[in-house]
Amino acid sequence: MESPIPPDRPPRVALAPLAEVTDAAFRAIAFDAGADSATTEMVSAAGLVRGSRNTAPLLERIPEERDRPLAAQLYGHDPAELAEAAHIVAGLGRFAAIDLNAGCPMRRIVANGDGAALMRAPALLGRCVAAMVRAAAPLPVTVKTRIGSDPDHPAAAELARVCADAGASLLAVHGRYASQMHAGAVDAGRIAEAVAAVRIPVLANGGVFSASDALALLRATGAAGVMVGRGALGAPWIFARIKAALSGAEVDPPPSPAERASLAARHLALALAWHRLLRERHPDAAGPDPETAAVLDFRRHIFHYFRGLRGAASLRRAMGEASGVAELLAAISRTFPS
Ligand SMILES: Cc1cc2nc3c(=O)[nH]c(=O)nc-3n(C[C@H](O)[C@H](O)[C@H](O)COP(=O)(O)O)c2cc1C
Repeated sequence: MESPIPPDRPPRVALAPLAEVTDAAFRAIAFDAGADSATTEMVSAAGLVRGSRNTAPLLERIPEERDRPLAAQLYGHDPAELAEAAHIVAGLGRFAAIDLNAGCPMRRIVANGDGAALMRAPALLGRCVAAMVRAAAPLPVTVKTRIGSDPDHPAAAELARVCADAGASLLAVHGRYASQMHAGAVDAGRIAEAVAAVRIPVLANGGVFSASDALALLRATGAAGVMVGRGALGAPWIFARIKAALSGAEVDPPPSPAERASLAARHLALALAWHRLLRERHPDAAGPDPETAAVLDFRRHIFHYFRGLRGAASLRRAMGEASGVAELLAAISRTFPS
C-alpha cells in the first residue's frame, strides 16, 4: 500500500479520549498494541480545583502504561479556573501534555458553557488556552475540538487559528459538527482546512475503524496523525495495523478467538489492578469494591472483543451470572479455549 507520509515524520497514531472507557487499564492495552499517545477521559477543571473526591482518581496511572505519553484532558470555560486546574495537573508530574476539551456535545456539558460551547465563543476559547499555557509551562497544552457547531457554522480553520495563536502545541480535530454528536459523515475537507490554517500539528479524528480508513483520512486531510476512538474498542490491534499500513508492510489478519480471549483476560486483570490502586490511593472516593468495579468496567468492553464470534451470546449469559473476576475469566476461557 502506498504511504502518504514523508519518511522522516511518521504520523502519530493516538488513542482518543472516551469517557468511562479509556481508563488506565484500556490505555495500557492500547499502548502495548502500538498507540503512540493517549488522553485521559475528560476531567472537570472545577471538580479538580474544588478537590472533589471523585475527580483526582481520573488522573491516576498504572505502571503497565509504562510512562507512555498521556495528556490529561480538562473541561471548563473559566480561564482562571482552567489555569488553576492546569497548574494542579502539571504539578502531578505524570503527564506529557494538558488537553482542553472544546468539542463535547453532551447537553449537560454544553449547557454549562463547557466542551462544544467553546466553539461558539472563539475569543473565550483563546483566553482559556492562553491561561492554561501560562499555568502549565513547560508542559504543552493541546486542544481537542470539532469542525464547528453545525453545518451552517463551519469553523475548523478559525478555531485552529485561535488555539494556535493562544499557544496550543497540537490540535485534534474531530471531523463532525457538534450537532452530529458521534454519528454521520466525517468531513475530511473541513479537517484539512484546520491543517492548512496553522503550523502546529493537527491530528485527524473520526470514523477510523480500519487501517485503510486511517490512510484515507491522512491522505484527505494532510494531518500529522490520526486519533482513533471507537475503532479501538475490543480491537486495540488497530494501532499496529495502521502503523503497518503506513510503512507499507503487510497488515496482519484479525486475531483468532483464542488471541482475543487472552487479550480480554489481560484487560480484565489490568482493570482489577487499576481499581485496587484507586482504592489504595483514594479510599474516600465513591464506588464499589475493586473486584466489583473491575467487573462492571469490563462489561463495557467484553462484547467488543468477541463481537460477531460464535459463542459471544453464551458468554453474555455467563457474564450476567459472574460475580467476580475469577468467574468471568473462567467463562471466557471456557467459551474461547486456547
Ligand atoms: C462514549 C464516548 C465518550 C467520549 N468521551 C470523550 C471525552 O471524554 N473527551 C473528548 O474529547 N471526546 C470524547 N469523545 C469523542 C471521541 O474522543 C472521538 O472524538 C469520537 O468518538 C470520534 O472518533 P471515533 O469515530 O474514532 O470514535 C467520546 C466519544 C464517545 C463515543
